[in-house]
Amino acid sequence: MPFETPHWPHGWTVQAASPRGCATETDGRLPYFLIAQGYIGQGMTGEVVQAWDSRVADPARAQVAVKLIPRGAAVDEYVKREVLHLHNLWHAHIVLFREVCLSPSHLCILMEPLAGGSVLDHVRKCGRLEESLSRWFLQQAVMAVDYSHMMGVCNRDIKLAHLLMADPSEACVKLIDFGACKHDDDSEPDTYIGTRSYMAPEVLACMPDPKSRRPRWYDHGKGRYDGRLADIWSLGICLFQMLFGIDEQLVLEHAPSKRSSVVFPCGEGDGGRAAVSLSPECRDLLNRVLQYLPENRLGMDGIWAHPWFAKDLPPGSGREHNLKLALAKTEEMHSVPGAQSEREILQILKEARTA
Ligand SMILES: Nc1ncnc2c1ncn2[C@@H]1O[C@H](COP(=O)(O)OP(=O)(O)O)[C@@H](O)[C@H]1O
Ligand SMILES: [Mg+2]
Repeated sequence: MPFETPHWPHGWTVQAASPRGCATETDGRLPYFLIAQGYIGQGMTGEVVQAWDSRVADPARAQVAVKLIPRGAAVDEYVKREVLHLHNLWHAHIVLFREVCLSPSHLCILMEPLAGGSVLDHVRKCGRLEESLSRWFLQQAVMAVDYSHMMGVCNRDIKLAHLLMADPSEACVKLIDFGACKHDDDSEPDTYIGTRSYMAPEVLACMPDPKSRRPRWYDHGKGRYDGRLADIWSLGICLFQMLFGIDEQLVLEHAPSKRSSVVFPCGEGDGGRAAVSLSPECRDLLNRVLQYLPENRLGMDGIWAHPWFAKDLPPGSGREHNLKLALAKTEEMHSVPGAQSEREILQILKEARTA
């Protein structure tokens, strides 16, 4: 399915249609073998374009999404983690990494193109989603995040805008953007990072108070947090936003006495949320996941076992499947002809740091 955006922002030089009927970009942001075909969007770290890889004969595989990061200082520790960890994650619900390469001006991260829009777009279009569709999107996101946790990687920027579909008619979603991720072998998470309305309370608390420079209202000892539990909070916010509709400024209140249950927004000016009727099981899952204190939050085991979550799970897609995938030897997976090795990737990243 083609991307719908023939829009090129300022700064791109685009020639007339090429023999293949697509625009050709010539200003050196892409290497010579990638022919730009459409502009996808701008993220926090770089631009993403759709391109045709002229080295690949199979037309289905020749289409790629390319994330462009300017060479030099922008190729930092976060970019290194994004590339190295995404390269190791092979899952039906995680965007497929193809390779990294260099153009004269940019580091290019090649991925499978997901042209069907994001779950965020879909919820915006519909206002809010039914419980059954929300569950199916959540199940796929949980499969992806649980697998990546098994592989030692927490994402730290899970949100509906990062759940993309290849084809909206199939409602199959894949998680993108590991630009904020951290591996168990990296230092313990202690950074205020991600997207504010999806950030767990303990992550928000890592924004130091400007005066005391201490975390503001929840101190986990040293301002560190468990990235896995922070990801679970973000998954809960994804579910909340699908069921109740999008609220960019979302800040959930907690019952002040116990801090144990979510106060669902309702009342005047709530955009009709009070009228949303949820099944008790669904409300129960939301309440257990959106726990203010991370130690009270439902873990992955609890989510998989929860009756609302477990309903209608496709056969063979449970945790055991994820475990099998995670245990499979990474080297075996990477024995795909032409796949880059970690050494090659590190060499390219090193070169990319020289502008
Ligand atoms: N593989 C892809 N296929 C289609 N669109 C993509 C793909 N990867 C990213 N995008 C689009 O580009 C935007 C920016 O990408 P993202 O990885 O989030 O960049 P950043 O790290 O700069 O936030 C995304 O929100 C999404 O709309
Ligand atoms: Mg992003």
